[in-house]
Amino acid sequence: MGRLVVVSNRLADPRKAAAGGLAVALGESLQRTGGLWFGWSGHIAEPGEALTDEPEVTRWGKVSLAGLALSREDHDGYYLGYANKVLWPVFHYRLDLADFESGFLDRYKAVNQRFARALKPLLKDDDVLWIHDYHLIPLGAELRALGCKQRIGFFLHIPLPPPQLLSAMPGADWLLRMLFAYDLVGFQAQADVQHFARFGQAEGDVVPLPGDRYSGFGRVLKAQAFPIGMDVDEFRRLGEQREAVETFEQMRDQYSHRRVLIGADRLDYSKGLPQRFRAFKRLLDEYEDTRSSATLIQIAAPSREEVDAYADIRRELEGLTGAINGQYGTLDWVPIRYIHRALARKRMPGLCRAAKVALVTPLRDGMNLVAKEFVAAQDPEDPGVLVLSRFAGAAEQMKQAILVNPHDTQGTAAAIHRALQMPLEERRQRHAALLAGITEFDIHWWRRSYLAALEEAAP
Ligand code: G6P
Repeated sequence: MGRLVVVSNRLADPRKAAAGGLAVALGESLQRTGGLWFGWSGHIAEPGEALTDEPEVTRWGKVSLAGLALSREDHDGYYLGYANKVLWPVFHYRLDLADFESGFLDRYKAVNQRFARALKPLLKDDDVLWIHDYHLIPLGAELRALGCKQRIGFFLHIPLPPPQLLSAMPGADWLLRMLFAYDLVGFQAQADVQHFARFGQAEGDVVPLPGDRYSGFGRVLKAQAFPIGMDVDEFRRLGEQREAVETFEQMRDQYSHRRVLIGADRLDYSKGLPQRFRAFKRLLDEYEDTRSSATLIQIAAPSREEVDAYADIRRELEGLTGAINGQYGTLDWVPIRYIHRALARKRMPGLCRAAKVALVTPLRDGMNLVAKEFVAAQDPEDPGVLVLSRFAGAAEQMKQAILVNPHDTQGTAAAIHRALQMPLEERRQRHAALLAGITEFDIHWWRRSYLAALEEAAP
């Protein structure tokens, strides 16, 4: 394989290279091929500040990290605007939250063009490019327009909604055309691939061909599901370190008379947090044995706070937490510990291991790695139980979790109660099957299988 070039909106921070995510996933291939990672540097230039198309390059071992600053206007229109007020809500099935009126699309196109212009001079003929996520859908087409003939793959980390819903978005047909600049388009779940194929046939004269190939707009691409995995070994090692062990012991001592349920999410409306809190309240309403005994610890990491919908969800959660704790709390028991802060990754395995149940109940999610991390952190002899939304991409793989519809408050409450009551033998069996799955289809499998498919896809 030629040199790997990764492009994503957020550039890896090498100081956080051990902190999971794409850096861990792609680090090995990037280091081996002396690769390049290109993206937004994270800097927002204020009006008057000079802005060049020449990225700032730093080194991370053998890898070059090339970061481009965004102007304030570009950041607001491309990132906050089109990416997070149009594509994010629509792709998470939330047309009601999408802002189609503010003209963000022009900025989105312009920033993708600027990325292409800045990246092109850094490329070699035999490079293999892997472009990530919804911020950069048209980047492949922009690179082709500048004459790039390299193999280019794209991976969508978030869901793709069904055709009926997608077609309500102005410009959806344009996005489809943009995808056809790629040689390989990867999705998280089979459902997403089906939505792509059906949308293509309904709206764009796309023709399915044998071997997961599709022709359209004068090109042929390959589209497949590559469900992203986690680095099970790395997470286990993290679990043996001081911070994780300390967290586990603290939790175990502090909650020795309680049963801990955990949730850990970015504070995002797609994560179904109000629905989760209502289901937890229903649990307390209906199952008396849970009162004074079950504690939900919810980590809600602040995210995209400049977008209104995120401020709204925060207020809603604060209100719900107050109401539930007010109604049920006692002098020595707080039903919901709501923490509006990110948790240090080092502590995550300890927190997961101390919990009897994890609530991973998004209304819609591309994959959800917290579900996998919870499984990886458990003691196989006495494992906790995963309650997982049917609407997370992970549900296609993690069938031995207790699957729930997070819109069904009663059903979710009953599922949580079942999880709390589950006999040891059943917990062990479910956990063993889940662990085998996440270990086989881990992050390295994901990277290897995607890059192998990209190698095979015709440039
Ligand atoms: C999701 C997206 C990523 C994004 C992350 C954090 O996981 O798929 O592309 O980086 O959320 O969101 P942020 O807006 O902070 O980058």
